[in-house]
Amino acid sequence: MTLLEIKEIYKSYGDVHILNGVSFTMKKDETKVIIGPSGTGKSTLLRCINQLSPPDKGQVWLNGEEITNPKSNINKMREKIGFVFQDFNLFTHLTAVRNVSIGLEKVKKIEKQEAHKRAMQELTRVGLVAQANQYPAQLSGGQKQRVGIARALAMDPDLILFDEPTSALDPELIGDVLDVMKSLCGKVAMLVVTHEMGFARNVADEIIFMEGGIIVEQGSPKEMFTNAKMARTREFLGRIGALYGDEKGG
Ligand SMILES: Nc1ncnc2c1ncn2[C@@H]1O[C@H](COP(=O)(O)OP(=O)(O)O)[C@@H](O)[C@H]1O
Ligand SMILES: [Mg+2]
Repeated sequence: MTLLEIKEIYKSYGDVHILNGVSFTMKKDETKVIIGPSGTGKSTLLRCINQLSPPDKGQVWLNGEEITNPKSNINKMREKIGFVFQDFNLFTHLTAVRNVSIGLEKVKKIEKQEAHKRAMQELTRVGLVAQANQYPAQLSGGQKQRVGIARALAMDPDLILFDEPTSALDPELIGDVLDVMKSLCGKVAMLVVTHEMGFARNVADEIIFMEGGIIVEQGSPKEMFTNAKMARTREFLGRIGALYGDEKGG
């Protein structure tokens, strides 16, 4: 069954066209990776999906309901879409466990003790029980990002959007975050913008290559890495492989 359907999304800032007709679909519990050069509209696309920046034209459907319809209950639908940010976006004045439980209390109206219990379960899932009472400043970047993932998971989303979740991390901390993401494969749908080609190659059901606000090519990792049709795709994959390597996340 189709979980997410993106239909002909356009987005401009002023007179600069950022997204120029992007369409694709995702099935339940599927993992898709978006790759592409900087400035190409990847973050804008994620923000159009959860309506942080509504598209100018086009539609987004989740579970057969149109998110982009002004009449739909956007807050209710956003609860079904988690977001993991490059720079974590944690509340600095709250402990790890409070960062995870606060949404359960404020958004889902779950009673405090139950919210705490569920938050601890999610921290267990990302390997951070021992850090539950630490503040973000006391955590490493990789630990902060795992709190970010636990926070998204706690809301029991159908889809999690990841915007370069490991780009702000020191190389030795990237693996732990990718391991957590890998452990979620097949349990929740994930749309992941990343330069981690090992993750893309080994984990993605499909890779989408974007450039200039359009999807240039999409296909299975095997197709994209060994048999990309477009010269632009091959050129980008070659460049990114040389820059980042493609061993990590394997
Ligand atoms: N809020 C905004 N206002 C104006 N321009 C923006 C805004 N957000 C992004 N842009 C521009 O849109 C383009 C695409 O940005 P982005 O989606 O962040 O690309 P990517 O994530 O692929 O690097 C960039 O040129 C960026 O400067
Ligand atoms: Mg971006």
